[in-house]
Amino acid sequence: MRDTVKKGYEEGDYEGEYRENREIVEKEKQLFKKLSDNIKGDKVLDLGCGTGVPFDRYLVDEGFDLTGIDISEKHIRKARENIPEAKFLQGDFFDQDFGENSFDAVVSFYAIFHIPREEHQKLFEEVRPWLKDDGALLVTMGAEEMEQHKEEIGGGELVWSSYSREKNKELIEKAGFNILETYVEDWREETHLWILAEPN
Ligand SMILES: C[S@@+](CC[C@H](N)C(=O)[O-])C[C@H]1O[C@@H](n2cnc3c(N)ncnc32)[C@H](O)[C@@H]1O
Repeated sequence: MRDTVKKGYEEGDYEGEYRENREIVEKEKQLFKKLSDNIKGDKVLDLGCGTGVPFDRYLVDEGFDLTGIDISEKHIRKARENIPEAKFLQGDFFDQDFGENSFDAVVSFYAIFHIPREEHQKLFEEVRPWLKDDGALLVTMGAEEMEQHKEEIGGGELVWSSYSREKNKELIEKAGFNILETYVEDWREETHLWILAEPN
């Protein structure tokens, strides 16, 4: 899946027509506010940050010290141009070890469902120690069962994998988090599950 996804984003035009005019809606701003209210510091890690727009731009403008990581070299190059104030790393977020208590918040938007669903809980278990105990997690997950769903976006072939909404919440809890809030986002023909959680 990783090779397909990396190739798909390098070759396709994700930012073009598909993502054009994606703005942060009021509900998402409320979740960012709640995230902010739940943490003490300002260090945020974004897994699968893409080109950094709109979310990392928003977080940096809100005063956060942002680190983004993405598997696509093209996206990282654009993210560095778009948000020079932030730090961006190219790589698979699964291969990283940021060390214990490195971040106040870990966020991830529309990226975790690009790795096989059998690995989702393991990812959250790896992320947990990177977060301070009074930190928070804000992620989007798939909102329905998808084993390995393939589709083309902007000319690049991509693949998604996801469990049901209930199972997504369960696996985050099993990885050591309490769920604070969930929100089901309907965007065009897609449905995504936003989950705000804190370490338990
Ligand atoms: C749908 S885009 C979302 C980008 C950004 N989060 C946003 O909301 O605009 C998914 C991103 O996740 C990245 N990605 C997918 N799998 C990854 C992995 N295993 N490690 C790092 N980045 C990954 C892709 O390269 C792509 O930029």
